[in-house]
Amino acid sequence: MILTPAVQIEQVCRSYKSGAGRIMAIDNLTCTIAAGAQIALIGPSGSGKTTLLSLLGALERPDSGKIALFGEEINGLNEAAAAVFRRQNIGFIFQDDALMPELTVAENVTLPLILIKTAAREIKQRVGEILTDLNLQQFSRSFPQSLSGGEKQRVAVARAVIHQPKLLLADEPTANLDRRAADKVLDTIAKLAATSGLTVIMATHDPRVYQRFPRKLEMCDGKLMCGC
Ligand SMILES: Nc1ncnc2c1ncn2[C@@H]1O[C@H](COP(=O)(O)OP(=O)(O)OP(=O)(O)O)[C@@H](O)[C@H]1O
Ligand SMILES: [Mg+2]
Repeated sequence: MILTPAVQIEQVCRSYKSGAGRIMAIDNLTCTIAAGAQIALIGPSGSGKTTLLSLLGALERPDSGKIALFGEEINGLNEAAAAVFRRQNIGFIFQDDALMPELTVAENVTLPLILIKTAAREIKQRVGEILTDLNLQQFSRSFPQSLSGGEKQRVAVARAVIHQPKLLLADEPTANLDRRAADKVLDTIAKLAATSGLTVIMATHDPRVYQRFPRKLEMCDGKLMCGC
């Protein structure tokens, strides 16, 4: 049986205006990532890691080329269809936890389920389960400002996976954390991936982070150096 890959990128280019000229942030990139893979996306600052994650999350569009996630081409989706695809299939974790400060921990984690119109009883059950799994239940009614950086980032992980996405895109999620908190966040993601078959792509500069990943994709000047 041939499994549909999680990610198929074919000859993708994405450029930005820069002064009088253009910068090729992604330069004719072709790559396939198997479903369930755990990938570290590495490379120097400005090499295109965040741009690639934004393209994979349908937050940005390529200038040319094709991107398919789990067999569905996403570059042709209009904004509304891309938003629906994102809500159902993708979880994002950013460098900064990006939690809503006026919502409690439980409410922050609930948001993705409200967006896909999950029934109230199921929301209660799933949010309770994930907060317990990630050892966050004691913070359920707390506001983000009263949590440590590592705790907030674990809430961000819970929010990113509560809707059971197929693909988790993480952009330097541990860059602002100390070693211990970073390990906890990475352990949490690794455990989730092992139990759910989640495909994970994580951009990072940190050797202690990318050494944990069995496969690394290295970018340089918008191209892949090796790994594909
Ligand atoms: N919105 C934008 N407008 C103009 N140029 C951009 C924009 N976003 C990215 N770029 C440029 O595209 C290139 C790739 O940027 P990108 O943010 O993808 O790099 P990165 O590998 O994530 O870097 P870092 O490790 O510093 O986060 C850089 O030269 C950057 O200046
Ligand atoms: Mg970046």
